Amino acid sequence: MLPDPYPLFKLFSGKRVHLGLSGSVAAYKTVELLRLLRESSVDAGVTFTRSALDFLGPLTLSALGADPVFSPRSNDSMDPYSHLTPAQSADSFMVVPATANILAKAAHGLADDLLSTQILAFSKPVFFSPAMNPVMWSSQATRDNIDLLRSRGHIIIEPHEGIVACGDQGQGRLAPLPVIYYHLLRALSPQDMAGKNVLVTAGPTHEYFDLVRYFSNPSSGRMGLAIALTCWLRGSNVNFVHGPMSSLFSLPGFELMPVTSAKEMQEACLSSWDNCDAGFFTAAVSDFSPAPSKDPKFKKDNIKSFHLEMISNPDILSHLSARKNKNQLVIGFAAEAVDLEVNAGLKLAKKNLDMVVANLVGPDSSPFGSSDNQVMVMDRNGRTESWPCLAKADVAWRLVDWLSLV
Ligand code: C5P
Repeated sequence: MLPDPYPLFKLFSGKRVHLGLSGSVAAYKTVELLRLLRESSVDAGVTFTRSALDFLGPLTLSALGADPVFSPRSNDSMDPYSHLTPAQSADSFMVVPATANILAKAAHGLADDLLSTQILAFSKPVFFSPAMNPVMWSSQATRDNIDLLRSRGHIIIEPHEGIVACGDQGQGRLAPLPVIYYHLLRALSPQDMAGKNVLVTAGPTHEYFDLVRYFSNPSSGRMGLAIALTCWLRGSNVNFVHGPMSSLFSLPGFELMPVTSAKEMQEACLSSWDNCDAGFFTAAVSDFSPAPSKDPKFKKDNIKSFHLEMISNPDILSHLSARKNKNQLVIGFAAEAVDLEVNAGLKLAKKNLDMVVANLVGPDSSPFGSSDNQVMVMDRNGRTESWPCLAKADVAWRLVDWLSLV
């Protein structure tokens, strides 16, 4: 399972990856990666090195749908052409976890076992997702091998900082699952957004009244994250301006811009908008913020009720769409309690949008926090569609498809 709020993308039927496993305790994480890939309809083959067998059994991956599974123990590796299997059938090849040893072999063209031979025979870039002790990762030999692999176009998914299995602290933990999964999906996705820069706002804003109390809404940021990731998978750079959301990981070309209040969100958007080709404004920005309390922490003592002055926040979407140039696309979102089509149409015109994505909110149904969404989409050319209830990842994929029509 991906950690919340990360979405699973399911539209990869007919695509195939090959996973190479080398001997690291992080090998168990490949099990979850394989499950995610299979849930995304991706076919996967696997090759074990001899030392990977000490950490994980090939049967586990076979049982989860990996096919073929090459292991130094099995007869499959007697196939005289198994060294060519990834090159001939896989759209993408990743070594995960990658030890210092397999990195060294790949960097120097050694081919003394099946996995290293398959890497050498693969003509496209290979992904390496290293996991090792931090001292081994920072050693000059490994640094040089990484530089060499990068100089040949291979992609290194940097390990993260933290406590590694032996108890040491530093950079060496296998990158988080979402980071590895989305790298693979990007290699399998159409690159129709390559070279584009996209701004996405997401999540709620928190408008503080004193040090601990704030005014907000239950937005999870899931819709915005699904759109931002779709754009990134399809090749674009993303500036992801988000209010408070559960933990997020950055990706190369996917810049996280965390903010708290609407004013901060506006500043972050203004700093990047001029370089952007499109903006998706999914954030549930608080329309008002409370006038700050005079006390650092407001005291309730002997107060039965009190009046709070609410001051209107900037409308970020209107502000940016007013200064968009003819090549920039602005996509707004509308959560409406009644008259969805009428109100969405009014918002499209009033906020000078290229496209509006509208959904109903009611006491029994709300897209806030849900992983599905039922939307109506309308664009400036008068085209309108109502979609069935879909996973937010599917809504995001369709919205990005629509960009080419606006
Ligand atoms: O006017 P309303 O709040 O319904 O408009 C919703 C759209 O406007 C969303 O796209 C939301 O992200 C954006 N918005 C904004 N700044 C605000 C309020 C809403 O960007 N202060």
